[in-house]
Amino acid sequence: MGSLERLVALLIITMCTSVTMSLAQNVIATPNLDNQNTTVVIYNDLGDDLPLRFHCQSRDVDLGNQHLAAGGSWSFEFKPSASGDTIYACLFGWKLEFHYFRIYRQDRDKESSLHGCTRCEWKIHKDGPCQLNNVTKMIDHCPPWDSSQFSKNNLPLFI
Ligand SMILES: *[C@@H]1O[C@H](CO)[C@@H](O)[C@H](O)[C@H]1NC(C)=O
Ligand SMILES: *[C@@H]1O[C@H](CO)[C@@H](O)[C@H](O)[C@H]1NC(C)=O
Repeated sequence: MGSLERLVALLIITMCTSVTMSLAQNVIATPNLDNQNTTVVIYNDLGDDLPLRFHCQSRDVDLGNQHLAAGGSWSFEFKPSASGDTIYACLFGWKLEFHYFRIYRQDRDKESSLHGCTRCEWKIHKDGPCQLNNVTKMIDHCPPWDSSQFSKNNLPLFI
């Protein structure tokens, strides 16, 4: 082989190697791309024309103080963690009442679970939050408020 052919052969081998390596990197990176973005929508369904105040945060993200007029809605978007432990906790308030609720818990809300969602819509009632079923459009999932003990210990929130 002349030196030009040798150079061309070396170049081809180098290119093949780098393509193979980048393919291998994509395979390794795939689990992190698995979780699609999730949107949480919060509706003020308190009634009596009451405005709803709330403040939601995760370990890393503070979504700030929010205010919803009667009947209004607000949403936020995030990527659930690969390790499955994403939690967004909120403090909801109206008049002199305050309640904690984990509006997103990956263990409860991941797509594969009973009430799983990628668009998670919650109506806030005085009695507690109710999830709107994406498929049936029924409100059939109304877990109780969280105890303040839980959220205070894990995620301090101030309205
Ligand atoms: C997913 O949500 C994050 C956080 O809000 C945002 O920055 C990103 O653009 C979103 N990605 C897509 C594909 O919508
Ligand atoms: C809910 O509805 C949205 C569109 O509004 C859709 O993209 C999503 O896949 C649906 N399913 C779940 C489980 O969230």
